Amino acid sequence: MDGNGRWANRRGLPRHLGHREGIKSVREVVEGALDAGIQVLTLFAFSTENWDRPPQEVTALMGLLKLYALKERIELRRQGVEVHVLGDLDRIEPATRRAVDTIVDGTRGGTAMRLNLMISYSGRAEVLRAARLLAERVREGDLDPDEIDDAVFSEALFTDGQPDPDLLIRTSGEHRISNFMLWQLAYTELHISPVLWPDFDREDLFAAVDDYQKRDRRFGRVPSA
Ligand code: FPP
Repeated sequence: MDGNGRWANRRGLPRHLGHREGIKSVREVVEGALDAGIQVLTLFAFSTENWDRPPQEVTALMGLLKLYALKERIELRRQGVEVHVLGDLDRIEPATRRAVDTIVDGTRGGTAMRLNLMISYSGRAEVLRAARLLAERVREGDLDPDEIDDAVFSEALFTDGQPDPDLLIRTSGEHRISNFMLWQLAYTELHISPVLWPDFDREDLFAAVDDYQKRDRRFGRVPSA
């Protein structure tokens, strides 16, 4: 969800107002994804690296996360959206953590769509965590190193049990992965949108899905006849 800061700068506003505006795009995209029949929507809301931003911006982002969780819980539940929050949640201060737990508990069992909010998350940290978990199992004699294959490794990630993403949308025109889902994106199609996140709406989402539908996915194999 990139471009909030630039959206605010261009209007002479403080950066946190760009993030606040970005919440509207989250609602737009959730609604659009539900209408498009998307089963799993994953939003990169706060990276491990974002902890190094100025304290007032971190505080504003945590405040928005809390607000989002408290404000959206009922509507998401009504829409059948099951929210999961993935990342190093121990770093989140208690009041925000409680709000996060409330939205996760309050939407459990929703079957229309799964919404993953990646908070205090980075792809490398996730891979390192998985490596440690597996190493621990090896040390305890519960796992033979030769048994570690794609499936076993995937099970040790936060996204255990979920399919790899079909499509990654990067907003604001940046051509970078920025430490996001490094393992899971192996064969994901990339769509770079020039639109800043606060301006990103359901039409932009549908344009990305249209673009995706024209792709020929080969997963490293030759084209099908
Ligand atoms: C990146 O834009 C965006 C973020 C670091 C935060 C995204 C968070 C929200 C939209 C609000 C919280 C979301 C939820 C789901 C509760 P940037 O600040 O790096 O923008 P820039 O590259 O233009 O500076």
